[in-house]
Amino acid sequence: EPLVFSGVQPTGNLHLGNYLGAVRRWVALQENNNCIYCVVDQHAITQAVSVWGGPAELQRNTREVTAAFLAAGIDAEKHIVFNQSRVRQHAELAWVFNCIARMGWLNRMTQFKDKAGKDRENASVGLFAYPNLMAADILVYRATHVPVGEDQKQHLELTRDIAQKFNTDFSDRIAELGLGVETQSGDETIQSFFPLTEPVIGGPAARVMSLRDGTKKMSKSDPSDLSRINLTDDEDTISKKIRKAKTDSEPLPSDIEGLKERPEADNLVGIYAALTDTDKEGVIRDFGGQQFSVFKPALADLAVAKLAPIASQMRRLSADTTYIDSVLKNGGERASVLAEKTMRNVRDIVGFLQD
Ligand code: TYM
Repeated sequence: EPLVFSGVQPTGNLHLGNYLGAVRRWVALQENNNCIYCVVDQHAITQAVSVWGGPAELQRNTREVTAAFLAAGIDAEKHIVFNQSRVRQHAELAWVFNCIARMGWLNRMTQFKDKAGKDRENASVGLFAYPNLMAADILVYRATHVPVGEDQKQHLELTRDIAQKFNTDFSDRIAELGLGVETQSGDETIQSFFPLTEPVIGGPAARVMSLRDGTKKMSKSDPSDLSRINLTDDEDTISKKIRKAKTDSEPLPSDIEGLKERPEADNLVGIYAALTDTDKEGVIRDFGGQQFSVFKPALADLAVAKLAPIASQMRRLSADTTYIDSVLKNGGERASVLAEKTMRNVRDIVGFLQD
């Protein structure tokens, strides 16, 4: 049976990339699947304290991201919403995965290289091991589908490698305990406990770019606030940022081939497409040949219409910390039951004595 898991770090505001690349797609997946959506507070502390802001800021951001999930349309009663640190089994499984994943695998992770920068010796061990905790987030529920933006693709490949190596290393034991399912791995048949998770990546906004530079990803860490639209921005701010977005001076092309080599135009067309649930072809059919002086105001109106209601709902919800905390507590309790079920099996598989 399919199970969807995904997460967002509570480091600062959510932006349009997080929304279109991830959260908006989570909402759609709720219809036909059981879903678990997590505010990954343990991942947030992998960078310097000055980056995540310290304890008060972490608590504020955890509640705010939760409010954003709910405001965007995540149903915390039908599905599960919680903050990662409440469910101890994530960290427990991450330790096992620290012993499964190889240094060489983690050395290849581009996000570590980007985040650690030049001063690698000074990066936290947690930042290096980050993808193992991410694999644990997913696999502690034996989740099958993970909707994320393009930038998480490499981490999901690593998650599959970890699952595969765990299954192979412990295949006999998994069979002996009567767990898992028989699967084919190359020309070997093994007994698999963990599924090989499918990434769910795609659509016109899998990689939303900076509004100031179409070759850079929209990100929380960009020093220019004009580079991104935050989910907390008010109507005037959203319009202003789109008006000021960098573009070239040509009109929009008459077919999508013409968006190649025009990263800023391509990005704005992708954002429009995602906000209207169509594809870039559809947007070019409507706006091909038009100047940005026509397209930008249309995009600004659309973005305001779609995002401003989320922002105001978020403000309402964030103010009610008692309610937000009760959502996280309830979600955490339900998630713990599922995670403990997996961990009891994992402890038996690895050979840890338990009652
Ligand atoms: P994070 O917090 O950086 O981002 C949350 C989600 O937003 C997506 N995203 C984007 N999508 C499109 N365009 C962009 N410019 C853009 N920027 C961010 C990300 O791909 C992500 O889906 N490691 C994860 C959090 C995580 C997680 C997990 C995800 C921890 N455990 C388990 C899935 C499953 C991260 O740092 O996302």
